[in-house]
Amino acid sequence: MLNSRPDEFFTGKETMDLEALFPGRRALFFPTISSTNDLARELASQGAAEGTLVVADEQTAGRGRLGRRWLAPAGTGILLSILYRPAWTASEAFRLTMACSLGTAEAVKAITGLEARVKWPNDILVNGKKVGGILAELGWEGERLSYAVVGLGLNVNWDVTTCPEIARAATSLSIEAKKPIDRQGLLKAIVEAVDRRYALCLSGKSEELRGDWERRLDTLNKIVTIETEAGRVQGQALGVDAEGALLVRDAQGQVQRITVGDVVVSSGL
Ligand code: BTN
Repeated sequence: MLNSRPDEFFTGKETMDLEALFPGRRALFFPTISSTNDLARELASQGAAEGTLVVADEQTAGRGRLGRRWLAPAGTGILLSILYRPAWTASEAFRLTMACSLGTAEAVKAITGLEARVKWPNDILVNGKKVGGILAELGWEGERLSYAVVGLGLNVNWDVTTCPEIARAATSLSIEAKKPIDRQGLLKAIVEAVDRRYALCLSGKSEELRGDWERRLDTLNKIVTIETEAGRVQGQALGVDAEGALLVRDAQGQVQRITVGDVVVSSGL
C-alpha cells in the first residue's frame, strides 16, 4: 500500500524544517490550511516580499483552474504557493506557469528519475497521467503585475486509485516510481528549480523558457481536441507562442490561437 503510512516529513517540526530547507527566505508551513494560494495572496496584499513561500500538508479548500477542487489527503502531496513580483504585463504572465511546471518537471526528474511532461496549459503529467497542476493567480497595478502567486499541487506518495473522482486520469510519483518519494528533498528541489527558471526569465531568457516548455509539451505535433468557450477546436498542436497560447492547425489549414481551454483528446499523427 503506497499511502498506508504517509511519510512524517510534515508533522511536528515543520517550521524548523522549512527554515533549514530555505535559509533566508520567508517560508511558512501549515499542517492544515484552507488554500496556500489564499494565504499567499493575503500576504501579497500586506506587502510580503518576493519569494515568500507557503507550504501545507493538507488544504480544506484547495482549488484548481476554472474553479475545480484540488484533492490531496494529508501526508501525500506537495502543496505550495510562491509569491513573485515581476513587473510584467498580461502578455508575459504565462511565463510564471511555464517556470513553475518546467522547474517542477526538472526537480521530479532529479529526485525520482521520472520523465515529467507538461500538458497545456497547466498540468504536469507522468506516463500520460496527471500528477500535478499549477494555479497562477495575479494581482494588478494598472497594466502591470503587482504580484503573482504560483500554486503547485503534486501527487507524491498517494495511491490515487483509492479516489474515484480522479483515479482514471491521475497518478502519483510513488505509483510511477514504484517506491515512496522523499517529499522534503523534492520540495527543496522544486522551489530551487522554479526560482532558477524564474530568474532566467527576469534576465531576458524567456524565449529559452518557452522553447524548453514547448519541447516538454505532451501534445506537441499530436492531433488534439480542445474545449473552448467558443466550442470545440480540433487540429494539430504546433506549439505555444510567447504569451502561452496554444497554436493549433485546424482541418482548413488555419492556425488557431487558443488562450483558454482544455485539451480533452489527443492522439499521435
Ligand atoms: C489545476 O490542476 O487545476 C491546478 C491545481 C493547483 C493546486 C494547488 S495546491 C497548492 C495551491 N493552493 C490551491 O488552492 N491551489 C494550488
